[in-house]
Amino acid sequence: MLKANDPCWCGSGAKFKRCHRSPEQQLRPGNLSPWRTVPAEIPRPDYAETGEPVRRPEPRVKSPEVIERMRRACRAAAEVLEIGAAAIAPGVTTDAIDAIVHQAYIDRGGYPSTLNYRGYPKSLCTSVNEVICHGIPDDRPLREGDIVNLDVTIFLDGVHGDTNATYPVGAVDDESRRLVEVTRECLARGIAAVGPGRPFSDIGRAIEEHATANRLEVVRAFVGHGIGEQFHTDLQIPHYYEPRFTAVMEPGMIFTIEPMISMGTGQHRIWPDDWTAVTADGSRTAQFEHTVLVTDDGVEILTLVGRD
Ligand code: MF3
Ligand code: CO
Ligand code: CO
Repeated sequence: MLKANDPCWCGSGAKFKRCHRSPEQQLRPGNLSPWRTVPAEIPRPDYAETGEPVRRPEPRVKSPEVIERMRRACRAAAEVLEIGAAAIAPGVTTDAIDAIVHQAYIDRGGYPSTLNYRGYPKSLCTSVNEVICHGIPDDRPLREGDIVNLDVTIFLDGVHGDTNATYPVGAVDDESRRLVEVTRECLARGIAAVGPGRPFSDIGRAIEEHATANRLEVVRAFVGHGIGEQFHTDLQIPHYYEPRFTAVMEPGMIFTIEPMISMGTGQHRIWPDDWTAVTADGSRTAQFEHTVLVTDDGVEILTLVGRD
C-alpha cells in the first residue's frame, strides 16, 4: 500500500497524495444546476426544443454569404471564450463559468449551441484534468493545480462558431504545463497544414508527429468536423495520420481542428452521464480548437477576437 508521501506508482515523480493519477485526485461527477433559459427573441437551432439535430445536406464549400456569417459567429465565439477564461480561478465552480458564458452568448444575440444538443444540458463544456472533452459544468470548485478546457460554441446568424482552449488554474506542475503548451503547438501545426490542394490527412499527420516527438498520445476517438449551418457535418478531420483520407481541401471549406492530447493513454471511457469522456488511465489531457476557412492561398483562422 502506497503512503501519501511515497512517489506515485505512475512514475510521474510526484508524491502519491498529490499525483493526478492517484485515485484520491480523480474527478467525480458533481451536481448540475437547473436548465438555463434563452430569451424567446433569440433565434434557435432546429434541435433546441427536441434535442435532435435534423441532418441536412450542406455544401462543404461555403458561399461568400455564409462565409461572412461564419466570420461573425466565430469572432463572437472567440470573445465568449475570453470572457469565460477570465473567470477561471481556484474556488470558482464550472457551473459559475457556465452561467457567465451563457449570458455572454445572449448579450451577442446568440444561442448556446451545446444547450440541448443531443440532450447536452449546459451552455459550455468544461473538461478538467483527465476529462478529454464534453465535461458538464457542475458544482465542483476548480482547485489550484487543475487544468481546465472551456469549449464554447455559439449559434449566431444561422451558423455555428466553435472554439476551445485549456487553461491552468493557479500554479500547475511542470508536466501539466508542458502538456498544455505542446497541445497548443499541435493545433498550430495542424492549422499550418491547411491549404487548397492539400489532402486532409496532412493535418492529422502534422499533429501526431508533434505529439509523438514529445512522448504524448493523440486521442483518436474524437475528431475535428465540418461546421456551418449545422454544428457537426459529415466531414471528419482526425488528429492522427490516416492515409485513407485522400480528400483534398478546397477554398471555401470551413471545419474545426481540435486535437486532444494525453500524457498517458489516448484510450477513453465515458461516464454514466453519457457525455464526460475521461482517459482510461486517469492521465491528464489538454485540447485546443479553432474553426478555420480554407482560402485561395492558405488558411484563415475564424475564431479569433478582433483587435481593431
Ligand atoms: N464543441 C464541441 C466540439 O468541439 C462539441 C460539444 S457537443 C456537446 O465539437 F453536446 F457536448 F456539447
Ligand atoms: Co468542434
Ligand atoms: Co468545440
